[in-house]
Amino acid sequence: MPQFDDAELTAAVIRSFGETPDPRVKFLLEELVKSLHDYVRKTDLTFDEWGYAIDFLTRAGQKCTSTRQEFILLSDVLGVSMLVDAVNHRQRDGATETTVLGPFYVGEHKPTPHGTDISAELPGERMFVQSRVTDLDGKPLAGVRVDVWHADGDGYYDSQRPDYETSGPSSRARFVTDADGKFFFRTILPCSYPIPTDGPAGEMILQTRRHPMRPAHVHFLVNAKGYEPLITHVFMDGDKYLDSDVVFGVKDNLISKVERRTDATMPDGKPAKAPWHLMTYEFHMKPGAGVAPQPLGVKPGEAA
Ligand code: BEZ
Ligand code: FE
Repeated sequence: MPQFDDAELTAAVIRSFGETPDPRVKFLLEELVKSLHDYVRKTDLTFDEWGYAIDFLTRAGQKCTSTRQEFILLSDVLGVSMLVDAVNHRQRDGATETTVLGPFYVGEHKPTPHGTDISAELPGERMFVQSRVTDLDGKPLAGVRVDVWHADGDGYYDSQRPDYETSGPSSRARFVTDADGKFFFRTILPCSYPIPTDGPAGEMILQTRRHPMRPAHVHFLVNAKGYEPLITHVFMDGDKYLDSDVVFGVKDNLISKVERRTDATMPDGKPAKAPWHLMTYEFHMKPGAGVAPQPLGVKPGEAA
């Protein structure tokens, strides 16, 4: 009957994976066990603490639904999501920087005409977003799908509202770039907002005296054939949470100087109510492949 001291136990668990057919699965399990066992040894974890961790993870699982993913939120607030992003995007070669997808991407929409106000039913100062998608040499990319989404003036995404299924998208749309790689739209000026704090991830944030805020931003998912899908945000310069984003997602070159304007027309020549705001940002795509992420509950290949 084998008996193990705490160091031999780690070696025994690793040996138990010896017959795993997939070498990558074997490697990932071995490293996971080494890190977990090191953690227990380093902290001299008590039974109470171990029990708390089990209960915390159980409650995280119980909080998940088809539209709520508490484990991703936990990964976000622990910096794991941004670390996965970092190790997978070490060489940008001048391509636009990436950041977290977040839990409020809902996927497919019909293409929306350029210039549309995607927040038409919402009050607030208007923002005109003008943008272009190019390759790394600055060549415009035409016919590229760009999904856009952001929070409303109260800090909520349309998909967080109970009537979302019937009321349809708001502050969310898909655009397709024109022959010059350009697209443009109107919306409201986004604001900073708290991530959901009514689950274990929020419990951890509040217990550790962190704030739950994300600086104001617009999400973009740019999907061009022959290029890596680009998942990113554009942040508003001057936001007070830029230095302390709860999910560690800010990168300097994703911050846009949004200009306050009082001109009587917007760049497309249509009348504007002053003041309004102008966001200008270009996306540079890296050659490659990859499957664009799917919203919660949808497997790759299932989307419309
Ligand atoms: C978001 O920006 O929508 C988001 C990202 C990570 C966690 C929660 C929200
Ligand atoms: Fe967001």
